Amino acid sequence: MRLGLEVAQAVVGVWGGERVGIPLDSDVMGTYGNLVEQLNPLGLVYVHCVEDETTGQRNTPSDMSFLELRRRFNGRDIANDDYDLRITTRVLLDGLADLIAFGRPFIANPDPVARLRNEWILTEAPKETWYGGGTKGYIGWPTYQKPPKDAAANYGQGI
Ligand SMILES: Cc1cc2nc3c(=O)[nH]c(=O)nc-3n(C[C@H](O)[C@H](O)[C@H](O)COP(=O)(O)O)c2cc1C
Repeated sequence: MRLGLEVAQAVVGVWGGERVGIPLDSDVMGTYGNLVEQLNPLGLVYVHCVEDETTGQRNTPSDMSFLELRRRFNGRDIANDDYDLRITTRVLLDGLADLIAFGRPFIANPDPVARLRNEWILTEAPKETWYGGGTKGYIGWPTYQKPPKDAAANYGQGI
């Protein structure tokens, strides 16, 4: 906690709190619950909460509470980890987060914003290429293509 606080103080000393945010990774409440209160005097613009490890499924720790976090922290909170349109909408409507961050949807979708906005399906990037090393699995993904009108009617008929 002391390290996080001292780094935040040093960075805010250079840039000012209104230009600095801090990511909170895994076990947000357990590890950072007290830290966020101590960050308040620095006037950070946001905390970015990666609610769980990046496992590919939402296993948010049971003590994760945005209400509690918002009670303790004066700045904005950004929610993150495996959000889809449904969860995003619920969390925003419930007033639990100010913003939602998306990571993996940007790997296999050059147009994730349009897809979310239009409720188009998101392509899932295969896990094998996540941390990749080369271009394979990172570039060359197509933008969303509407299925042909008769696709549903032909489904299952070998076409
Ligand atoms: C391949 C990959 C690389 C990542 N690299 C970073 C990174 O360099 N810095 C970081 O803060 N988070 C990194 N993350 C975590 C993401 O920013 C994000 O917090 C996480 O994937 C959960 O969000 P998502 O479910 O929308 O992907 C990475 C995640 C993946 C899958």
